[in-house]
Amino acid sequence: MGAEHKTHQTLRCAASPSLALVKYWGKWNEGVNVPATTSIAVTLSHLESVAEIRITDRADQECVTVGGVPQDGARYAPFFANLRAEARRDAWFMVDSINSFPTGAGLASSSSAFAALAFGCTRSLGMTLPPEKLSRIARVGSGSAARAVYGGFTRFSAGAELAEPVAAQSHWADLRVVIAVVDCGPKTVSSRSAMNRSADTSVYYSRWIECSEDLAARAERAILDRDIEVLGVAMRQSYLRMFATMFTAEPPVFYWLPETVAVIRACEQLRQQGVPAWETMDAGPQVKILTTADYAYRVCEGIGRVADHGEILVVGVGAAPREIGGTGGAPR
Ligand code: DP6
Repeated sequence: MGAEHKTHQTLRCAASPSLALVKYWGKWNEGVNVPATTSIAVTLSHLESVAEIRITDRADQECVTVGGVPQDGARYAPFFANLRAEARRDAWFMVDSINSFPTGAGLASSSSAFAALAFGCTRSLGMTLPPEKLSRIARVGSGSAARAVYGGFTRFSAGAELAEPVAAQSHWADLRVVIAVVDCGPKTVSSRSAMNRSADTSVYYSRWIECSEDLAARAERAILDRDIEVLGVAMRQSYLRMFATMFTAEPPVFYWLPETVAVIRACEQLRQQGVPAWETMDAGPQVKILTTADYAYRVCEGIGRVADHGEILVVGVGAAPREIGGTGGAPR
């Protein structure tokens, strides 16, 4: 690139988080963020990471802010280095991003953040890549981001370097996810360290790996059949088994709060009343409940009684990353 050190125009992109219904928890022995378990996920609507991206020809200018807060460059360096290698370009990135939902609180903000970056940085370089290629690039930032480059439903197989689509956004239009945000502060242990600690120290980790393929197969079939009950049972088994590896890690990881347990119990009561309310959780205290449009209000009412000081969000099935403006990309 030229020696005059110019920065280029900005490009603004948005991506939505990927909520795992059956979890990625543990890494394959080789490769960066290659999963040890097969995960099945849905991309969520309404929640967004928006990244404003500028290209610079100065390596020392590469930086990322999230909500105006400068981020640790080491977290992003492998992602950007791999992106440069894939694109075969000496380009560095200046990124300002924001999340429309709490960051680092177990709402999969790293999945949407790196999906937005994979999509936006390659677009800024004048490249329009198919989602499979973006998936491979996004994975290096965060494993779950490999799924968030697709809208709709996805599978990320154990040992794979990219996620694949399972069903389109329109496949299950009346599916809703009710999110009980019981605490929106950032977590004290990152999902990556909790995952690695579980793998390294939990006596249940090997059993968790053995069970994961069956859970994923059942969940995928249930999505194709739009069978929320079969999906709900597989989801519940997946998140509780994942947490079993955290509770038995050394030292253990506890993300749960009293309100978390209250919401889980409220879901059980709703199911006893015939309401489809199937919960899942990630690396944080929030509870995400799968239901249908007809029952979303009943679910909010049921969990609102026990988590009345928290925020409740209702979202649906979301779309793939997209460009939402800016002042144009880099010269092609
Ligand atoms: C509990 O994708 O954040 O949300 O690959 O190390 O960045 P890294 O981990 P990350 O882990 C996600 C864990 C999870 C389950 C899931 O999304 O499948």
